[in-house]
Amino acid sequence: MPGDVTIGIHDLSLATARYVLTHETLAAQNGANVAKYHRGIGQHSMSVPAADEDIVTMAADAAAPIVARHGADRIRTVVFATETSVDQSKAAGVYVHSLLGLPSAARVVELKQACYSGTAALQFAIGLVHRDPSQQVLVIASDVSRYELGTAGEATQGAAAVAMLVGADPALVRIEKQSGVFTADIMDFWRPNYLTTALVDGRESISAYLQAVEGTWKDYTERGGRALDEFSAFCYHQPFTKMAYKAHRHLLQHCGHATDEGEITRAIGHTTAYNAEIGNSYTASMYVGLAALLDHADDLTGRAIGFLSYGSGSVAEFFAGTVVPGYRAQLRSDAHREAISRREKIGYTKYRELHERSFPVDGGDHPVPTETTGPYRLVGLSSHKRIYATR
Ligand code: HMG
Repeated sequence: MPGDVTIGIHDLSLATARYVLTHETLAAQNGANVAKYHRGIGQHSMSVPAADEDIVTMAADAAAPIVARHGADRIRTVVFATETSVDQSKAAGVYVHSLLGLPSAARVVELKQACYSGTAALQFAIGLVHRDPSQQVLVIASDVSRYELGTAGEATQGAAAVAMLVGADPALVRIEKQSGVFTADIMDFWRPNYLTTALVDGRESISAYLQAVEGTWKDYTERGGRALDEFSAFCYHQPFTKMAYKAHRHLLQHCGHATDEGEITRAIGHTTAYNAEIGNSYTASMYVGLAALLDHADDLTGRAIGFLSYGSGSVAEFFAGTVVPGYRAQLRSDAHREAISRREKIGYTKYRELHERSFPVDGGDHPVPTETTGPYRLVGLSSHKRIYATR
């Protein structure tokens, strides 16, 4: 067994949806003071998928540049994390495997545990690479966050996918061995199979998240993790960006540290740049935060980053990563900014129409209009089968 192999994130790429709804538009519709959104929850806009976009098209869009850069020869596993799955049986990653032309000698699987499963996918990938460091694992986290219209959760919707190539001698971030985990059976946020939108107890979900911060940190330190002041930055799961501030403040207080707002902003400010524009992307959200940090912060070479991954229900994990020398040459900062800035603003009527859109369940042929400007699209539904194509 290779003892001293370093494993982590070798490449990272994000994709989001064609459309964007600003919080000004939402506030004008529902009569809220827009400052509540901008300052209170720290959100400016949210990505809205076009009719022919979903978790599969966003995932393929995110992963394609990784396959183009590194080839697919070493990828023997694709782990797809999502909580907005398109099928109860077939893994969404199988569609992505096909769209990207990955080798048939591969295993593909889907993981679920609310927003946490992107991190489960990363940890499982590390285990596989540890067993055979010549292999790479394509980890994809892709989600569409959707709440009922007119609810408090509506302002915290969004959509995005992050693809990560996990392998030995990573070019971006080495993931350290120690990690703190925490599970509590709690109904703070959930979505029964018969609903298309999530149910949530907003206040309860925030306290459940903060409880998980304490629980993961306790386990992390008991397992010999780093001291809090060794970290240069922290990536938190961001259902809305102010949640990262709440969580970090809570961790500092819990550890008996001062809660200087300037220090808190220095530790997490960069991680919120993309999430404030994209909204909640569930499994992808924390890794969207990592992309924003790497793309915006001054040189982080050799610095430790703390990660707090939370998934309602609830399961959470705290772990650490170290940024690798030369990482800046590998970043996809321009492509990430472009994916966010090229989204087309839509008005409330169009947003509402997309929100309410669903397929008939009669097994007929149901083509979808071409809307996406991305490289992959959902062509339609036929005999209950989803048809995808390269655009
Ligand atoms: P709400 O009732 O709309 O808002 O719910 P509020 O009244 O609580 O106000 C929000 C903040 O804005 C407050 O700040 C207000 O003071 C402030 P806080 O007290 O929290 O610091 N505010 C203003 N600030 C400036 N100017 C103003 C103004 N007015 C008010 N004029 C809530 C907000 C987030 C609860 C709601 O949007 C919601 O239910 N969202 C969905 C649930 C959620 O995101 N929970 C987070 C933790 S759970 C999680 O992260 C997991 C999740 O991602 C799912 C998964 O794991 O799969 C959700």
